[in-house]
Amino acid sequence: MPVYSQQVMDHFMNPRNVGEIENPDGIGEEGNPVCGDMMTFYIKVKDNRLEDVKFKTFGCGAAIAVSSMVSEMAKGKTLEEALKITPKIVAEELGGLPKNKFHCSNLGAQALTRAIKDYLGKKKAGGDK
Ligand code: FES
Repeated sequence: MPVYSQQVMDHFMNPRNVGEIENPDGIGEEGNPVCGDMMTFYIKVKDNRLEDVKFKTFGCGAAIAVSSMVSEMAKGKTLEEALKITPKIVAEELGGLPKNKFHCSNLGAQALTRAIKDYLGKKKAGGDK
C-alpha cells in the first residue's frame, strides 16, 4: 500500500470541483489502459480564462486527488498559464506521490490540456467565443 501525503489524502477525501459543467466550452478525456482509470475534465472559458473547471474521475485515490488538485490550480488561470500545469508540478503541489502512482498525475494534466485544446479547436473552427 503506497504512503500518501496529507494533501493527497485531503483531496481524496474531499475532492473539489467534482461534477460536470452543462454546455462546457471544452471537454478532455484521458485514460490509462494499464490500470483502466479514466478521467474527464469540463471547462468554461471567459475572456481567455478558465472561469470554471469540473471533473469526473473513475480511478484510484491518487487519480482523484490529482484531478481535484488540477481543477483547483487551473481555475481562474489564463489558458496559457493552465497549459503550463505539468504532472510534475501537480505531484509537487500534492506533497509528492509514490513512484508507482506518478502516472496518475499524468492523467490529470493531460485531461485538462485536452479540454483546453478541444476549446481552442472549436474556437478556430468558428465557434461562438
Ligand atoms: Fe491508474 Fe492511479 S492507478 S490512475
